[in-house]
Amino acid sequence: MNFSSSSEMRIELDPQRMPQHVAIIMDGNGRWAKKRLLNRINGHEKGAEAVRTVVRTARRLNIAALTLYAFSTENWQRPKTEIAGLMALLQRFLASERQLLLDNEIRLNTIGETDRLPSGVRDTLRAVMAETAAFDKMVLTLALSYGARSEIVSMVRQIAVAAKAGTLDPDALDEKIVAGHLATRDLPDPDLLIRTSGEMRLSNFLLWQIAYAELVFTPTLWPDFGESEFIQILKDYQNRERRFGAVISP
Ligand code: FPP
Repeated sequence: MNFSSSSEMRIELDPQRMPQHVAIIMDGNGRWAKKRLLNRINGHEKGAEAVRTVVRTARRLNIAALTLYAFSTENWQRPKTEIAGLMALLQRFLASERQLLLDNEIRLNTIGETDRLPSGVRDTLRAVMAETAAFDKMVLTLALSYGARSEIVSMVRQIAVAAKAGTLDPDALDEKIVAGHLATRDLPDPDLLIRTSGEMRLSNFLLWQIAYAELVFTPTLWPDFGESEFIQILKDYQNRERRFGAVISP
């Protein structure tokens, strides 16, 4: 592995045991701002900088898939001004990170009810996704207007329709078919799920997909999350024994 960053010099990460897919619940932007008597949007802006750092680090460490919970279906209940600020920030982020994605051959992907997003954000997303569609070094998935239960309902509906039409035999239904009808059908399941800000909840994120993920909850507020903590979490992950419900013989 190319240890180009000085802060990584002493880090021993095993490139063979890197998680293929890391998912992150980025929480604590509001509290970060409140502590500094700033408004919540300032917290989200600082949070977008942490997103940049984590995307760069994940790419450099050859993590194949990174999925970020950027906006949940529940987040639509926030004040209109905060939603508008978040959407404007997302659009600025996509414009400013486009070149990074192109230079590093990162494919942009989304999950969630993106048709609920403002048209400007949808257009920018569509354009950057089209430009990066052929890249395979890493896939960056933004969960936008995403909720796992709604994703599961949509999967059940698709399967019920296929069963009714006679194109799918209910007796043949298995986990692979279910996974193939989720928004994440082209991604491996996350190996590692990180949530910042000390909350120990899953908040309707990737409920099917994280069945065997290693879970890490850190008290760090998302805007303060940086490369060194990310690398430390990856080291801790590599020291965990993943058994997938089986017994590992001595
Ligand atoms: C949770 O903090 C964070 C969000 C609801 C949005 C996440 C958005 C970003 C990290 C920035 C923009 C994203 C991209 C991809 C550019 P919170 O507001 O719930 O914090 P709190 O729990 O402290 O109030």
